[in-house]
Amino acid sequence: MKMGYANMMIILGIIAIIGFTEAQLMPNYYAHSCPRAEEIVQGFVHQHIPNAPSLAAPLLRMQFHDCFVRGCDASVLLNITKAGNNDTEKLANPNLTLRGFDFIDGVKSLLEAECPGVVSCADIIALVARDAVVTIGGPWWPVTTGRRDGMFSNESEALQNIPPPTSNFSSLQTIFASKGLDLKDLVLLSGAHTIGISICPSFLNDYTTSLAMGTAKTHHSTVSTQPTSSQENARRLPTTQP
Ligand code: HEM
Repeated sequence: MKMGYANMMIILGIIAIIGFTEAQLMPNYYAHSCPRAEEIVQGFVHQHIPNAPSLAAPLLRMQFHDCFVRGCDASVLLNITKAGNNDTEKLANPNLTLRGFDFIDGVKSLLEAECPGVVSCADIIALVARDAVVTIGGPWWPVTTGRRDGMFSNESEALQNIPPPTSNFSSLQTIFASKGLDLKDLVLLSGAHTIGISICPSFLNDYTTSLAMGTAKTHHSTVSTQPTSSQENARRLPTTQP
């Protein structure tokens, strides 16, 4: 998908906002501890994203889902909690369609080989999100670094903090406000949907579902839209959109 200038500016604003809401971060935090860190991230992205450009969107989304739960601490990556359970954020419904975990692992492996235990996964997510968007023709934005990785990850916290697609405007404003983000931030950040895909169930509302099932309700009565094979058609609804 080609990005227009306006859309690119929206995405630029987006992650600038995410960056500004971080505390105690700085440009090139690893300048002394791992001087090639950002170059290595960028090299990996440049090597692989051209072969899999559709990964840029879920990698960008991953940063959003990470940052909205306990801050940008890479808790979205954890497979197991400190207590030994696996009810981590990854299992929460909004995260089931996240992709790109192997990609982050690939970058982390290179950085561990270069400077073991130095570069946080949270910074990797933020750098990868930016570099991936740039690689598919989007804008560049400054990413400050110095995030710390968290040890906790909990499915129910993800459900509480990541807004569902059924959210109305005021609940979106409320949840964004709880992260220190205002209306302008909400509008700009929503511009991230310039790129990417969705599975149909994320956006099928009651009405379209009932149309598919042949039980759509008008103001006056229930009408049968597909009297003979509605259930079969509903089953045939595509689960992904191009
Ligand atoms: C404002 C509240 C938001 C809601 C309710 C929302 C909801 C969604 C939903 C339901 C999908 C489709 C997921 C699927 O079916 O696989 C999606 C996709 C996506 N979202 Fe959001 N989102 C929000 C904000 C954001 C933000 C702040 C970002 C990034 C800064 C973002 C980035 C994306 C991207 C890039 C995709 C496409 C993912 C892909 O191609 O796999 N979203 N979003």
